[in-house]
Amino acid sequence: MNILISKTVIAEKKRNRTPITMLTAYDYSMAKLLDENEIDMLLVGDSLGNVMLGYDSTLPVTMEDMIHHTKTVTRAAKRALVVADMPFLSYQVSIEDAVKNAGRLMKESGAHAVKLEGGSEMADTIRAICRAGIPVVGHIGLTPQSIHQLGGFKVQGKESSAAQKLLDDAKALEEAGAFVIVLECVPAKLAAKVTASLKSAATIGIGAGADCDGQVLVINDLLGMNKDFKPKFVKRFADLHTIISAAVQEYKQDVEARTFPAPEHGFTIADAVLDKLY
Ligand code: KIV
Repeated sequence: MNILISKTVIAEKKRNRTPITMLTAYDYSMAKLLDENEIDMLLVGDSLGNVMLGYDSTLPVTMEDMIHHTKTVTRAAKRALVVADMPFLSYQVSIEDAVKNAGRLMKESGAHAVKLEGGSEMADTIRAICRAGIPVVGHIGLTPQSIHQLGGFKVQGKESSAAQKLLDDAKALEEAGAFVIVLECVPAKLAAKVTASLKSAATIGIGAGADCDGQVLVINDLLGMNKDFKPKFVKRFADLHTIISAAVQEYKQDVEARTFPAPEHGFTIADAVLDKLY
């Protein structure tokens, strides 16, 4: 039987130590494919800024961008739990703003949960969003919206004070009500310790080792869509850049040689009809 993935199912998976699968999705066709393949959670990440919109960071992504793309994903998801990222400055300015924007994201896009970046400084915000009935996913470690403050894309929590802060942050987010916490670019053993320390919140790792409760990757990275981008933590499960390029080249050659479309790709008309034309 096809079970719908809910907060309760995610908590059960953590309890049973059943790995949770999450992938990013930004459009209807891909979301449908991932949902049919029973990926538990679809994340409409603000990485759509880089992947779909061509920005060089996630910072320019707007609420409108997130709502537009999330709607396409929720239309496709019949089983998966859909999480939408709260974009930069939609939750950092005030708690009131954060609750309004989280509500808007859920109400207008049909997302089942929202994700926001930050540690214990976000606990009150998360508490208020949860109080409004909106499930929250936290995100700590490398948080791309703070990239200029972090000084670049690098592993987080390596020194003892930073490692302790990461552990404290995870506990604070759980205590505030986050039901899932994404750990990005965190040493594997630290991520394992965080995972074991949390009673209810499931950890989802990206560059955080195999002992998290689940894993997430950006779908375009997993599929090898961009030959020039491969961070250490990405495994390419396919080389779609090569496959798509070959298909497009073949199409181009066929069109230029007039071998496509062939008769079987077209429609016929009786000569008698044509003959009557003047
Ligand atoms: O925006 C995103 O895709 C993310 C994942 C990398 C976790 O936040």
